[in-house]
Amino acid sequence: MADGFDLLRSWMSKQPFEPEEGNKRLPIERMDGPVGAVVTGADLAGHLTQAVVDQIWTALLDHGLVWFPGQVLSPTQQAAFAENFGELGTYPFVTPLAEHDKVIPVIKEPETKMNFGGLWHTDTSYLPEPPSVTMLQAIEVPARGGDTLFADMAAAFESLSTGMEKMLLGLIGVYTADMVHGETGAYSAAAGADHPMDYGDKEGVAERCVEHPIIRTHPETGRKSIFAGSGHCSHIKGMRRSESKVILDWLNAYATKPEFVTRLKWESGSVAMWDNRRVFHYALNDYAGERRHMHRVILKGDRPF
Ligand code: SIN
Repeated sequence: MADGFDLLRSWMSKQPFEPEEGNKRLPIERMDGPVGAVVTGADLAGHLTQAVVDQIWTALLDHGLVWFPGQVLSPTQQAAFAENFGELGTYPFVTPLAEHDKVIPVIKEPETKMNFGGLWHTDTSYLPEPPSVTMLQAIEVPARGGDTLFADMAAAFESLSTGMEKMLLGLIGVYTADMVHGETGAYSAAAGADHPMDYGDKEGVAERCVEHPIIRTHPETGRKSIFAGSGHCSHIKGMRRSESKVILDWLNAYATKPEFVTRLKWESGSVAMWDNRRVFHYALNDYAGERRHMHRVILKGDRPF
């Protein structure tokens, strides 16, 4: 015979289920390519519940890159959104926006030649504690072009032969900003770089070197990935420059083969967030005569191991 609890359970099972705001599952759809997921259903300018923040972070760890189309964020709102995930970091070479001291502009004017981020890299890997995550919002994008490429350094590492993996795991790299931001680097006046942002090495960062492993281990997922890019890693410790160059150039060419690369096409207002502990990225310079304007925020990271 049905008791009171059975009747209650039967009544409840017939009620339409409306999850509470905080428990809603965000639609998360994989992008074409090895990394990347499109996340919809969240207004990043508003208050996000912890459950939503957790879903976004899990998507980032699973996919290396998350992309949110159709957002409108002021610099303050972008920084507040980023703060849901950790402490904000500072980029040493570009003066931040007046509206927020942790948000930098990334601008290329129609007549500018210099392309910020136009090399395969993981952000500021020459710092002792490079940022874990970068978040970029597209304010104004060209009608065509200006996409960003993302390479999956974990998948690339996992596809190497065991002999190559073993050799790389024992190697330490010497990382420096000098190759890009130094007196003759690609971003220097000597190289003809015409920065539209207020740019300069105000803290003497390009003069310093740090040692990090060539292969790093993700502190949260435990996956290993290639960390040394030929733009920021000047050489391998204990090797001649010529020996290092062969290894680093080969590694970068291998890891950025098309099968490891996802291409992100921006829309104005969209926001991307990527995990620098897993992916490399490359900003394409294929829109001469048009303007591209982004806002960038980084999260502080740990020392790679
Ligand atoms: C960067 O390297 O952080 C900038 C990437 C981009 O503008 O697409």
